[in-house]
Amino acid sequence: MNPKQLAAEKAVSFLENGMTIGLGTGSTAYWAIEKIGEKVKNENWKIRAIATSIRSEEHARSLGIPIFDFSTISTIDVTIDGADEVDAQLQLIKGGGGALLREKIVASNSNQMIVVADESKWVKTLGSFPLPVEVVHFGWQRTFEKLQLLGCETKRRMQENEPYITDNGNYIVDCSFNEITDPPALHEAVNAITGVVDNGLFIRIASKLVLGFNNGETRVISR
Ligand code: 5RP
Repeated sequence: MNPKQLAAEKAVSFLENGMTIGLGTGSTAYWAIEKIGEKVKNENWKIRAIATSIRSEEHARSLGIPIFDFSTISTIDVTIDGADEVDAQLQLIKGGGGALLREKIVASNSNQMIVVADESKWVKTLGSFPLPVEVVHFGWQRTFEKLQLLGCETKRRMQENEPYITDNGNYIVDCSFNEITDPPALHEAVNAITGVVDNGLFIRIASKLVLGFNNGETRVISR
């Protein structure tokens, strides 16, 4: 089994029938959705789910997982989602798949966020992976300049030669800092720029990490 699937299936073992579950986005969260689909189909699980992207919602629906409107749900028990980087304090960089805003809204309204990742995502210091920042269209060039003043190189994300557009209708700018020495301070500084909707740093949100290793082992780390 590949390490992403291993981590995702281990994380699903922490879920229970009857829960309200947040469904992440990406190639690791994919396996969690698959496993949850199996529980619904084969073990008759009655759950309620909220998806963090249109992609994950369609995947879940195709497996018969009931998707609920956020307005009908006040608390999410557990969200399982991937990460682009994770450090020992369970601080994350997310948004490689462009879903950071919905992912953060869902995770911060969850009693628990379980991060699932293969061993390549575990880092000593965040920042090798460019930080995704969601930015509104209006005045985006000026917003990019303000982001550059924080010490990064900016690149507007593209898809098939067109600017990438998030599920919320915004741009993503990938900000290369190389090393993020103070993630909470950077999180605040980025979000203080007018025109920024949110950024991919997740600080004090993840409660558990399940890492999958190439040798077939998993490791669970709690905050
Ligand atoms: C999407 C994300 C993903 O969770 C992150 O990019 C990890 O993806 P993958 O599991 O495919 O490596 O934040 O916005």
